[in-house]
Amino acid sequence: MGEKIAELESYPQNIHDALISAGYRTSKSIAIAIPHDLAVDTGLSEQTAEEIIARAVSSISSPPMSAKDLLYIEQKKGKVTTSSNSLDSLLAGGPWAGEITEISGEFATGKSQLCFQLCVNAQLPKDRGGLDGKVFFVDSEGTFSATRIGEMAIAMDLDVESVLENIFVTRVLDSHHQTRVVQKINEIAEEENIKLVIIDSIAAHFRSDYIGKDRIAERQQRIMQHASSLTNLAYVHDIAVVVTNQMVAKVDELSGASQKAPALGESWSHRPQTRIVLRKSPGMARIARLTDSPRRPESEEVFYITDGGIRDNPRN
Ligand code: GTP
Ligand code: MG
Repeated sequence: MGEKIAELESYPQNIHDALISAGYRTSKSIAIAIPHDLAVDTGLSEQTAEEIIARAVSSISSPPMSAKDLLYIEQKKGKVTTSSNSLDSLLAGGPWAGEITEISGEFATGKSQLCFQLCVNAQLPKDRGGLDGKVFFVDSEGTFSATRIGEMAIAMDLDVESVLENIFVTRVLDSHHQTRVVQKINEIAEEENIKLVIIDSIAAHFRSDYIGKDRIAERQQRIMQHASSLTNLAYVHDIAVVVTNQMVAKVDELSGASQKAPALGESWSHRPQTRIVLRKSPGMARIARLTDSPRRPESEEVFYITDGGIRDNPRN
């Protein structure tokens, strides 16, 4: 039997070899995989794949720390400014590195516009509210706009070409492709200094690929695997992961009353650390409601979509 790769030497030889021939050479790449994909790639069962992933995740997680150390780490954590002071204050500085932030809202509420603004701002140096890094944009709806990002860059006196060069864009065509892309991002994250990952939108393909009541359980399992993989991606590379989500009608079982809520259900709803819901207000004003945050109470702020981008004021 062959030699073992140091990082994977604790695995039995047959599993080690199956991982290597499928292209999984590091604990990070395994931790970010989803069980279904790892099983397909290696020929191992999905249950074995789950166990391998759990082991990889525990090998990359940090040892217990004191709350004092954690406070220090938290204070140093990067955030991406939104270019609106109100939105930044709602988000305790903007979407945080190492975490998932969800932006929900009905059509034309500004989810994509806010993502475009973050694509520009993540590239700024840290003392200007950026993460000093590049961006990976996963476009599931075909609505990415380089032109619009260029306008936002010009409004900030930045060099449009270099801003656009620092954004990798992938158009994903189905949910399977979408889960696979996370592995791709993991492969280039360190070399390319990727600090912001956008998924616009997280839900669209999952909702259209798994239609019918009998496929809901399968869909939920896949979306939760995707969520774990994104959580691990954010954690191991200290990346801010920002996902957009659609609103769907949610019927209260007791009263029968229907109200709108972000798609993908209850178990997904606990995965993003921070969640905001956007809604329209007259003109280009938008209201953001913080619905989930480890650091701020539920509250609302107003912002504007202007020609220059996301702002506190309608006239820039
Ligand atoms: P869906 O993807 O359809 O669910 O919507 P969304 O929430 O992603 O909406 P999006 O971010 O695309 O926001 C659309 C809003 O931004 C519309 O009201 C547009 O008028 C506005 N918008 C887009 N481009 C510009 C622009 O160049 N200037 C201004 N002022 N507004 C713009
Ligand atoms: Mg959009």
